[in-house]
Amino acid sequence: MIKNLFNLKGKTALVTGGSQGIGKVISLALAEYGADIVINYRSGQELAQKTYLEITSMGVKCSLIQCDLSLLDSAKTISGFLQENNLEIDILVLNASVQVRKPWIEVTPEEYELQLNTNFRASLFLVQELYPSMQKKNWGRILTVGSVQQIRPHQQMIVYSASKMAQVSMVKSLAPQFAPFGVTINNIAPGAILTGRNEEVLADAKYKAIVESKIPVGYVGEAEDCASLSLVLCSDAGRYITGQDMFVDGGMSLNV
Ligand SMILES: NC(=O)c1ccc[n+]([C@@H]2O[C@H](COP(=O)([O-])OP(=O)(O)OC[C@H]3O[C@@H](n4cnc5c(N)ncnc54)[C@H](OP(=O)(O)O)[C@@H]3O)[C@@H](O)[C@H]2O)c1
Repeated sequence: MIKNLFNLKGKTALVTGGSQGIGKVISLALAEYGADIVINYRSGQELAQKTYLEITSMGVKCSLIQCDLSLLDSAKTISGFLQENNLEIDILVLNASVQVRKPWIEVTPEEYELQLNTNFRASLFLVQELYPSMQKKNWGRILTVGSVQQIRPHQQMIVYSASKMAQVSMVKSLAPQFAPFGVTINNIAPGAILTGRNEEVLADAKYKAIVESKIPVGYVGEAEDCASLSLVLCSDAGRYITGQDMFVDGGMSLNV
């Protein structure tokens, strides 16, 4: 019988894109249950600093690492930072992503690379860097953040939706290899969630109504809606769940 299912005291979580939106809420949820947090962000230092203060005010430690995940050596850079600061990661949340919206025929090779490299390549190489110590400890949690677009690709986000499906494939490939060592890896797939990235488009009432008409619960979600499932999957509560792809989307993936 496992006790204190959600207790994360003594664990350290790295959350990519943890400075705002869904990544921030996941960071706060993990911190609430006692995890120390390392937040990776790209360039929004002010928001990262604000999140840092919110997390440390909860009585846990927080570190910030600025690093652009689209760069080839980003995983090595982050791993080097962790080593220098004696930080060993127990929970890895691969949340950051880049999304370029335009007709498929106009996508440039640079935009293709930016999205694939940030949303998929960085995930694979961060797992390569951070999994071995989880295996050694016989405990680890890896959570990727996908999208409802894995199965309902937006017509103007061809590379983004493909990158999210690639990540799910990685999860399914790695889960059975990690399972004997106490390490789980799962994907959560949010639907339409109001965050900084879509604030502007969702401010258009007409557009918002179209989006909401595709969501069975009838409304756009909040970042907080992604917190509870993430907490389950990143704690002892989720020890028997691995290789899964779970939608947090108010039913949007049902395509009704
Ligand atoms: N919001 C939605 O409706 C929705 C729907 C489905 C899936 N998702 C997925 O959920 C995740 C979080 O989305 P969100 O809406 O919360 O995003 P967001 O509010 O736009 O925040 C994105 C975060 O990722 C960081 N980031 C972006 N590019 C990066 C890079 N190259 N290197 C390092 N960090 C980078 C940003 O840092 P800076 O601020 O410093 O740039 C920021 O912390 C993403 O994977 C997204 O695809 C979101």
